[in-house]
Formats: sequence, C-alpha cells, structure tokens
Amino acid sequence: MPPPPVADATFAVPAPAPAAPLPIPRYLEQVYWWAYVHPDAVQLFDREWLVHLILLGNYGRLRDAALDDLGQTVTGHTLQVACAYGNITPRLRQRLAPDANLDVVDILPIQLLNLAGKMPVDDRVALMQGDSSSLACPDASYDQVLLFFLLHEQPESVRRATLSEALRVVKPGGKIVIVDYHRPAPWHPLRLLMTGVFRKLEPYAMDLWDNELAAFMPANTTFASIEKQTYYGGLYQKLVLIR
Ligand SMILES: C[S@@+](CC[C@H](N)C(=O)[O-])C[C@H]1O[C@@H](n2cnc3c(N)ncnc32)[C@H](O)[C@@H]1O
Repeated sequence: MPPPPVADATFAVPAPAPAAPLPIPRYLEQVYWWAYVHPDAVQLFDREWLVHLILLGNYGRLRDAALDDLGQTVTGHTLQVACAYGNITPRLRQRLAPDANLDVVDILPIQLLNLAGKMPVDDRVALMQGDSSSLACPDASYDQVLLFFLLHEQPESVRRATLSEALRVVKPGGKIVIVDYHRPAPWHPLRLLMTGVFRKLEPYAMDLWDNELAAFMPANTTFASIEKQTYYGGLYQKLVLIR
C-alpha cells in the first residue's frame, strides 16, 4: 500500500486523507519538540540565515554538494527521507527532469505542509507522511535516496532501521546520498563547542563522531562504490553509496 499523501490545497491532485495518522516517535516528541514538532518551531527555524548559522556557514556548500551528486538534472525516481529546513528541496525540485519524480517522506504533517508552502508541488512531486524506519515503499523502487542531516537526530535503533530501509528501497545500481555530522579533526577549534551543543541539544549526534555510518548499516551490505568526503575540518561528511 503506498504511503498516505498529505492533504493540502496546494497539491496538484487532491490527496485522500491518511487511513490513520502515524504516531510521532518518542525521540522527536521528547528531544526535538522545540525544533520540529511545536507549531512555532517551523516559523522560528525555517529561515535561510538561521540554517546557515546552525551549520556554521556550511549550508550552501553541503546542500549543493548533495544536489550535485543527485545530478545537475535529476532523472528517474528520487526519494528524500525527511524534510529539511532551508531551500534544499525546492532546489532539488528545480533540477527535476520533466519526466522525473520526487517523493518526500516525513513523519510530521506540519513539516510536509511547510514544505508544500515553500515550492510549487506539481504532479512530479509527492509529499507523504511516513516513518523513515518503516517506509511504505516497495523494494528497489527508487533510483536515488537523499538523507540530509536526519541520521544524527535518531537513536541508534531508529538510525539502523532508517539506513536499512534506504538500502531496501533503492534499486540495484541506484544511489544513496547522505550528508550529516562527522568527527572533526582533533585540532578543530569548534570541537568543544560542538560537544557542548550535542550534549545539551542533540544527544544522538555523538554516535556519528564515534562511528562511521557503515557501522549502522546491516551486516554484509555490499556496494558497487562508496565515496566519502568530509568538510569543514571533518565536522561534516557526505557519503555517496552506489548499490
Ligand atoms: C532531516 S531532519 C534535520 C534537518 C536539519 N536540521 C535541517 O533542517 O536542515 C528533520 C526532519 O526529520 C523528520 N524526521 C525525524 N524522524 C523521522 C522519522 N522517523 N521518519 C520520518 N521523518 C523523520 C522530522 O520530522 C523533521 O522534519
């Protein structure tokens, strides 16, 4: 059964209401309520300059690096797992070939509605409520999957399930692009500051300092290629996996 689309007047095709709303994961409600769940959160945080500030001035280049890996012109069927503040999804939409498709899945309807307000949603784009750890998509149904700063916000068990699902839904030969935090170099001047920020606000993010992302993937997963690039003294990483 396909994931329930989000009903909104801006949609090209009127969408049926979801059979049953999905529950909000506990970590979102308890840890990230102030960032994504609370109705004021979207108003407060979805500002270009704030997204740049939170990523210490690196948003533009991380966004563009991810988009360039998906293609100057994005073809086929692309899945973005979870909305992101800023303009990455509108820019991804602008790159879609006329016959390409983009699905965006997020657990929070408020985030999907916010995204619908940031870009025209034509019939190439579908915004759907869904859980990254249990995607309602068939195996091998996407050419490309994008995960932009999602994994550091998830507890380990959910992160493992999210990666497992991304691997399941991408086609053989398809691509997974992941951008997220990474352990910075020992000399990094912001290492201490970031440690404090993570301790206070992002309790699962340190996992990505202590482990390679491959550590959270199912055992014996094989790839045609793996390309890792780090940015800003190692604080950020981009992983491009070809199945
Ligand atoms: C991609 S992450 C972080 C994005 C980053 N802070 C930014 O805005 O650039 C935030 C999104 O992930 C979504 N999210 C978190 N857990 C999820 C899950 N299990 N399934 C689907 N979406 C999820 C949240 O609802 C939120 O919209």
